[in-house]
Amino acid sequence: MLSSVALKDGLTAELRWSEVPQKKWDSNKGFRVFRVSARVGDEEAGYLRVAYICSSLHAERNPTVWHHIPRFSGWCYYPGDLYETWRAYKKYQLNVLSIDGLARRSDEEMQADLDRWAQMPFKGFRTIQDWIDKCSLIGHLDFPYVDYAKVRDKYLRKGIATAMYIFAAKLLAEQGMLFRSSGIQSPRAKALWSYLRWRKDIPTRQHVIPWHNAVEVTIIDYSGDTNG
Ligand SMILES: CC(C)(COP(=O)(O)OP(=O)(O)OC[C@H]1O[C@@H](n2cnc3c(N)ncnc32)[C@H](O)[C@@H]1OP(=O)(O)O)[C@@H](O)C(=O)NCCC(=O)NCCS
Repeated sequence: MLSSVALKDGLTAELRWSEVPQKKWDSNKGFRVFRVSARVGDEEAGYLRVAYICSSLHAERNPTVWHHIPRFSGWCYYPGDLYETWRAYKKYQLNVLSIDGLARRSDEEMQADLDRWAQMPFKGFRTIQDWIDKCSLIGHLDFPYVDYAKVRDKYLRKGIATAMYIFAAKLLAEQGMLFRSSGIQSPRAKALWSYLRWRKDIPTRQHVIPWHNAVEVTIIDYSGDTNG
């Protein structure tokens, strides 16, 4: 998909959208990654990476909870002990935990954890869908975000990032998805998002992602305007 946009200073950029093949397929959790490339003349002036957990791919890649757990790490999982996981969820302190201990654990040990979890006063989970529904994937599936954006120095402040974000948001809207800011932003990304929110012609709104430390993100929503 290609689009030509006029920038400041009489420049024109060609925007191109493509999917980035996932090389480490064995460890792919169900992510799809896309890239918007902005070319000015013969060179790439900037790019935007867009990523999301694709629900159908996730389900295909993770038929059981055992497939899912080792592929996800970071702030949301502590498979060493599911009771500890639950306690940590309550405290929102999971981002310091890792899955390093997982490889040392046998299936029996992990099953014992699940059994223990099932005894808890809150609802236990036995299947991957339970895990998704009750844990941190809520609000994350099929919700593309800015993975990274970069504009070459000599092209900064000419509207390239703005054009790429709008382009991505419109393409995603055609596929029935919203486009959101990342939960973690550089100062320049923050400035860019303030600007996007300020622009009355760009349909933005604020959204709080459950579990993700309740982080507030900005959504660009062209769902009502997919022809535009
Ligand atoms: C963030 C980045 C992609 C923005 O690219 P850009 O093409 O310069 O952005 P735009 O020209 O579309 O900026 C639109 C508006 O955002 C705001 N903005 C962008 N960069 C800004 C900055 N450095 N300081 C203050 N405001 C800024 C301004 O309001 C700007 O409008 P203006 O130039 O008319 O004042 C670029 O600065 C960059 O590559 N940074 C390094 C990598 C990075 O931090 N990436 C973001 C992490 S995902």
